[in-house]
Amino acid sequence: MTAKLVLETTSLNVQKLPQHIAIIMDGNGRWGEKQGLSRIVGHRKGAENLKQILRYSKHIGIKTLTVYAFSAENWGRPKLEVEFLIGLFEDMLARELKQMHSEGVCLKFFGDLTPLPKSLQKLIAKAIALTKDNQKINFNVAINYSSRQEMIRACRNLAVMAVEGKLDPNAIDESTIQKCLYTANFPDPDLLIRTSGEMRLSNFLLWQLAYTELYVTQTLWPDFTIAEFELALKDYASRDRRFGKV
Ligand code: FPP
Repeated sequence: MTAKLVLETTSLNVQKLPQHIAIIMDGNGRWGEKQGLSRIVGHRKGAENLKQILRYSKHIGIKTLTVYAFSAENWGRPKLEVEFLIGLFEDMLARELKQMHSEGVCLKFFGDLTPLPKSLQKLIAKAIALTKDNQKINFNVAINYSSRQEMIRACRNLAVMAVEGKLDPNAIDESTIQKCLYTANFPDPDLLIRTSGEMRLSNFLLWQLAYTELYVTQTLWPDFTIAEFELALKDYASRDRRFGKV
């Protein structure tokens, strides 16, 4: 595994690697159906793929990976699929936590975790506490996440501070808001990857993606291999980022 990874990274321009990558891991359900199997099989394969992409990201020196695992809108899916996904998060986390910790992964979770099963909430709290000082890679998992909800939460926090006299409304600027988002301690993503071809943001990191480079591939998430990931990184390296300037 390690030897293969080293070989594949030699063609990457490490000077132009994104520091922070966000991923919308779309297409699991269709992948399962395409195999003549269930959508659930696609989610399981997608979770396995995420492990590879996380490990590879760490290996090449990506500092932060943020993935959209479950949106606030995903509760509207069939009950069985929702239950399976929530169970999958818990199984994966229980199974992989020790390994991720030993590999230096620092875990964070974005979203309102309160509707999740208590056992999963406890495991998440344990994972955050255990890995908080790790420095190889930040791995942020968005669960029950909605970017608009994240902004509402930020507004409410600021409003409370203003009412309590701890914040002058005229002093609110971009950095004030940035500090109230789940991403407070991270730079904005440099690159957003969306698999399976849909050209939309789906309520993911709307504030943070203001100047992010977008990369959309037709490939379904379970088929998004390290070779495909490298294509995205090379494409990113060829971009001229101007941030609205000339
Ligand atoms: C989108 O595909 C994918 C999801 C809603 C779930 C993503 C979850 C994983 C990859 C599992 C692993 C995550 C963790 C953190 C262990 P879709 O179901 O919308 O696919 P479709 O567009 O083909 O229907």
